Amino acid sequence: MKKSLPYGRQTIDEEDIASVIEALQSDLITTGPRVKAFEEALCTYTGAKYAVAVANGTAALHLASLVLLNKGYKVLTTPNTFLSTVNAIVYAGAKPVFIDITKEGNIDLDLCEEMLQKDPQIKALYGVAFSGKMLDQKRLASLREKYGVAILEDNAHTIGAVSEGIKAGSCVNSDASIFSFHPVKNMTTGEGGAITTNDSALHERLLHLRNHGIVRKPEVAPWYYEMQHLGFNYRLTDIQAALGLSQLHKLDGFLAKRREIAKRYHEAFANSPVKPLYPFDEGSTYHLFVVRVQTDDKKALFENLIERGVGVQLHYIPVNKQPYYRKLGYGKETTPQMDKYYQEAISLPIYPTLGEEEQAYVIQTLFEVVNG
Ligand SMILES: Cc1ncc(COP(=O)(O)O)c(C=O)c1O
Repeated sequence: MKKSLPYGRQTIDEEDIASVIEALQSDLITTGPRVKAFEEALCTYTGAKYAVAVANGTAALHLASLVLLNKGYKVLTTPNTFLSTVNAIVYAGAKPVFIDITKEGNIDLDLCEEMLQKDPQIKALYGVAFSGKMLDQKRLASLREKYGVAILEDNAHTIGAVSEGIKAGSCVNSDASIFSFHPVKNMTTGEGGAITTNDSALHERLLHLRNHGIVRKPEVAPWYYEMQHLGFNYRLTDIQAALGLSQLHKLDGFLAKRREIAKRYHEAFANSPVKPLYPFDEGSTYHLFVVRVQTDDKKALFENLIERGVGVQLHYIPVNKQPYYRKLGYGKETTPQMDKYYQEAISLPIYPTLGEEEQAYVIQTLFEVVNG
């Protein structure tokens, strides 16, 4: 049986398709009533007061950074993320400060605290709830209170996660949170993203920035608007929001499937050379299922698995070691955990429609390749 299993993929059904067709047949196909309904549904789902839907997760990070950061601010962040978490800090004219990760892949909040004690120029912390596991909420609360830093939770992997009774994106212990609705994520709008916050002033500014910095003033004249900030066209369309609304209804079902697969992987890998990144966590969304494998030849291991149809991936190449960041003087930070993680980590296929037989194939193939 020739297989080709990606590490992640969307789950789209007839209901999603019908929802998009209905949107296409309506009068407003760009930002209209479905975008508003999607934002309201995101607030209901996460518990946040406000949600702003945007064109993608990177746009969400960009706008959040413009409202949270000032030029020259130092911002603690993680090397173990997709480029856009860090790029957004740079877009706002601020300076990323890379902090090592814990053994579980998230930013090390103890090291963050050490840096906060030493350097009053640090004004914000951008944490990534890596793979679907939320950041330690008690620690976030304490850092926020003790040091007065702005906190952004990059929850691109994490919509639907719960930790200590707190839902991802509720912003109970952060100023803002972002989601991505790229097709490999837990739910999709094709491309899309959102920012959630409980701060009404931030919310207002985000709405303006999403739409060219325009403020409408019909009290002056029906056509009248003012551009008060330098904004962007980062709007989501009603077509995408229709898909988002339909997907959001199914999200908990998708996550139940992901957790079921994660449980199976955990059982299969117990007492073996394949080590899951953290013990089974029923609050994690398992957007990614990362295992660690010690090998002298990771390239050969990847090539072998891909050749056999197991679409493994690597999340992530340390962002501070990218050529762009090296040119800015980064890349020499002491990050022993990240270095070790980069040598060992492999993301295995995980998505709601990955069948039992396919899961068995992933497990068996991985054992064959690892055991040579
Ligand atoms: C952690 C993280 N942050 C941000 C993003 C950016 O999201 P998007 O691809 O929707 O721009 C991604 C997407 O890959 C991500 O994984």
